[in-house]
Parts: sequence; structure tokens; C-alpha cells
Amino acid sequence: MAALGIFDTANLNGGQRLAVKYFTVSLILFGAQILFGMLAGLQYLKPDFLYEVVDFSVNRTLHVNAMVVWLLYGFIGGVYWLLEDEAQHPVVGLWLGNLIFFILTLAVAVVVLVYLIIQVGPGEIESIWFINEGREYIEAPRWADIGIVVSVLVFFFNVAATFAKGRYTGVAGVLVADLLALFGLYLAGMFFTPNVSVDQFWWWWVIHLWVEATWEVLVGCIMAYMLIVTLGVRRKIVETWLYIEVALMFGSGILGLGHHYFWIGTPDYWLAIGGFFSALEPIPLVAMVVHAVFDSGVHKLRNSNHPALAWTIGQAAGNFFGAGVWGFMHTLPQINLYTHGTQWTPSHGHLAFFGAYSTAVIGFFYLAVQKSRGNVWMSGNIVGGWKWKWAMFWLWTGMIGMTVALLIAGYEQSQIERAMEGSTWMGYFAAQAHPWFTQAMNWRQISGWGFTLGYCLLVWDLLTIGKRETRPALAPQGEPATA
Ligand code: HEM
Ligand code: HEM
Ligand SMILES: [Fe+2]
Repeated sequence: MAALGIFDTANLNGGQRLAVKYFTVSLILFGAQILFGMLAGLQYLKPDFLYEVVDFSVNRTLHVNAMVVWLLYGFIGGVYWLLEDEAQHPVVGLWLGNLIFFILTLAVAVVVLVYLIIQVGPGEIESIWFINEGREYIEAPRWADIGIVVSVLVFFFNVAATFAKGRYTGVAGVLVADLLALFGLYLAGMFFTPNVSVDQFWWWWVIHLWVEATWEVLVGCIMAYMLIVTLGVRRKIVETWLYIEVALMFGSGILGLGHHYFWIGTPDYWLAIGGFFSALEPIPLVAMVVHAVFDSGVHKLRNSNHPALAWTIGQAAGNFFGAGVWGFMHTLPQINLYTHGTQWTPSHGHLAFFGAYSTAVIGFFYLAVQKSRGNVWMSGNIVGGWKWKWAMFWLWTGMIGMTVALLIAGYEQSQIERAMEGSTWMGYFAAQAHPWFTQAMNWRQISGWGFTLGYCLLVWDLLTIGKRETRPALAPQGEPATA
């Protein structure tokens, strides 16, 4: 083992070394997401900015696709990070996992370049194969889709086979079943139907059933591990909570899908089903908050990694507010009739994605740097500890600023465009010209600068934290992860 404070991958097990590669690309793509988000935001303020060079539609595609990919890379990294610890067995087929990492990353780079340089193609099937599939969030062309499916099958094999050969814990069982569902659902977003209603019907199977069911369960698993290693929470307690959360999550999230079927041409019964079940969706999110706060309280917050635990508690809170509260606000059809597709939606989308998922991945980045530097001290009074706190402050302040600005714009649109003007074309423009809307767009951009600052501090911190530490990590009490 290398000296404390020195970054050396010899400190890591095989799965963790692969995880660090995933985390690195993830962090870079997070930066790309911010860059294209800022450009798209600027185009709201100056519509001719980069017009016909990199149009809003292209920036937006890059922004949301970078998000999906960096979060998935973060999750895959998280799973490889915990795999050997949890299974007590070296990763089965690690060389294949490494190979797939490089192929997948190359494919991502090619897709990004095609989005940027070629951008659009004629309305023919070739465009779907080679340029863009046109489904928001999962626009990747079909060749890349097939590559993604192969890559995730390898990943799934690595995970399932490692657990099968090693120790099969409760976390492992939930994780393996969930990964199967998560990747299986991707297939629903891979075919083309000329009927837009039918197309959207299936597309939501990926989008909704990812973020409100399978991704939630995945972060439930990786955060369970996080609580065990940073706080030393007993496995029995964490796993019991995990089972409860998973049952509630699937119980409400699957039929909650109906909240996207209100106005796309699906039968009327979805109004009742979607309204009812999605209104129950905040319940598992409350359970997740209670769980994290309870564990932290029992352990009097004594933990081995302050930044990771802070992001974990932020995850519980962000998930609850972004998904639970902000989601609930517009999920009843009576309300959604007025809010659907206004800035209310991105207000919720931003807070939910950041709150529930980015936070979890950032927490894992901190676990990874700690161990890479020989398991250094990351509890109270870290040398240079202001950086992680200010990074966190600016990321959260920027995100909350954007969320609030978008919410104000969304309220104004629901009032003027929908309630007063009756959803007319004129109403749409009247709402967009209103000062409450234009000012909100400025505030979104200003908050975006705050968020960008937070990102720069985060990168700087991840590169330097623990460098000048000479103390070994604080051992959390209770049952260690490897017990
Ligand atoms: C972490 C979990 C969640 C994430 C990441 C998330 C993200 C999003 C995003 C990005 C959209 C916009 C989709 C589009 O492009 O059209 C959306 C829409 C929506 N979400 Fe969520 N969401 C989450 C959880 C929830 C929950 C728990 C609820 C309800 C309680 C909810 C209710 C809704 C509704 C009703 C819409 C449709 C908005 C409209 O009609 O325009 N979401 N969500
Ligand atoms: C500097 C920071 C950011 C800026 C300026 C920004 C800006 C934007 C803009 C302008 C759009 C297009 C909205 C539209 O179509 O009307 C957008 C969409 C979106 N952004 Fe961001 N963004 C930022 C960071 C983030 C982060 C950190 C996340 C999540 C982790 C995120 C998630 C999303 C999502 C999910 C959408 C689609 C929302 C929807 O369709 O409802 N953004 N963003
Ligand atoms: Fe949904």
C-alpha cells in the first residue's frame, strides 16, 4: 500500500480500479452537461446566439444525454466500487469489463461528435440508425443502442456472476434483480413507430420506469452500502429498510407511469390510475429520508467520510423535495392540465435529477478519492476542507436558484397561457413575453453560473482532497462493510 495521501490505484481492488475509470468519464461528462445547459439557457435569453451553428435543439439534446450517460457511468462505477467488498470475491470477468469500458466510452465520444457535427439527417430510417433516434433523453442512434445493450449485458454478467461465486447479500439480491429490469426496459425505447402516441407510450416505459422505479432502487442499494461503510450502520437495519423502500417504490412507481398518459392519446382510465398511484410515490421517498436521518442520528454522525455522508444526506433530502414534493405538485390530472409542459416541468426535472441521482454519484466520487489516497482521514478538519463545503454550497445554491426561477416561470405560464388565455397560440407567446418569465430566465442563467462555479470547485477538490493528509481514516463503529 502506498503512503497516505498519495493517489495510487494499488490501494484499490480490481473492481474499484475499473470504477475509478467510470467515475473519471462521469465527472467529465457532468462538465459537458453543464456547458451545453449554459448554452441552451443563453439561447433562451438571446435566441439568435449560435443559431444554425449549434441550435437550441442540439444543445438540449447534448445537455440531457450527457446527463443520462454521466449518471449511468456513475452508477456502473458505484456498483463496481462495492462489488468485491460486498461479494467478498474478485470481479468475475474483469478484463471483459475493462474492454467494454473502452468500447462504450469510444461509442459515447462518437455519438457526441455526430450530435455536434452532423446534428440532423433526412427523415429516413438511416438517420435513426446513424444520427439520432429522436427520443428525448435516449436520442442515441440505433447502432449505439445495440452497443449499449451488449455493454450492459457484460456488466450484468460481471455483477451477477461475482455475487453468484461470492457472498449473496440482501443488497446483492435487490441489485441484481433491479439491474435486469433497468436494462431490460431500455429495449422499450429502441424501436420506431410512426404513430406518435404509441411511440410516446413506450418511450415513457424507459423514462418513467427508470427514474421512478429502477434507478430509485439502484440508488437505494448503493446508498445502503454507503451508509454501511461511512457510518458503520448494521447491515440488518440497512437491508430491512431497503426491502421496505423497494416494495413501496415499485408499488407506487409502476402504475404511477400513468401520470404521463394523461394527454398523449391513451384511454381516459389513465387519468385515475396515474393520478392515484403517482400521488403515492412520495411515500417511499419519505421512508428514505427517515432511514438516512435515523441511521445518522443513532451513530451521532460519527463517520469516516464527511463529504460522502453530507452528499448522502443531501441525496435523501434532494430526492424527497425534487421527486417527491416537486413531482407531487403537478401529478394530479386536475393540476397537470394547467402545468403540463410549462417551465414547471424542468423545475421538477432539474431538482429531481440533481437531488436524487447526481448527489449519490458525487458521494461515490468522494469514497473513491479517499481510498485511492490510501484510505486517508476525511472526517472533521480535513486539510483544505473548505473546498468540499463551498463546492457543495454552490452546487446546491445554483440548483435551488434554477429550480425556483423555473417554478416562478411555470406558475406564470399556467396562469397566463393556460388559465387566462385557454392554451391558445397567442397565450403561449403572451406568457413567454411576461416579465415574470423573462426575469426568471435571467435568474436561471445567473444560478447556472453559481452551479458552474460549484462544479469547478468540485473538480478541484476531488483532485486535491486528502493530498496533504497524514492521518488514516476514522474507523466507523459497528459492523464494517466487509464483515
Ligand atoms: C428521481 C425521480 C424523478 C426524476 C429524476 C424525475 C424527472 C422528471 C423529468 C425530467 C420530467 C420531464 C420529462 C419530459 O421531458 O417530458 C418529469 C416529468 C414529470 N414528473 Fe418526474 N421525476 C421523478 C419523480 C417524480 C415523482 C415521484 C412524481 C410524482 C409524485 C413525478 C411527477 C412527474 C410528472 C407529473 C411529470 C409530467 C410533467 C408534465 O406534465 O409536463 N416525478 N419528471
Ligand atoms: C448550469 C447548469 C444548468 C443549466 C444552465 C441548465 C439549463 C437547461 C436548459 C436551458 C434546458 C432546456 C429546457 C427547455 O427545454 O426548455 C435544460 C433541460 C434539462 N436539464 Fe438542465 N441545466 C443545468 C444543469 C442541469 C443539471 C445539473 C441537471 C441534472 C442533473 C439538469 C437536468 C436537466 C433536465 C432533466 C432537462 C430536461 C427537462 C425537461 O424536459 O423538463 N440540468 N437545462
Ligand atoms: Fe413519471
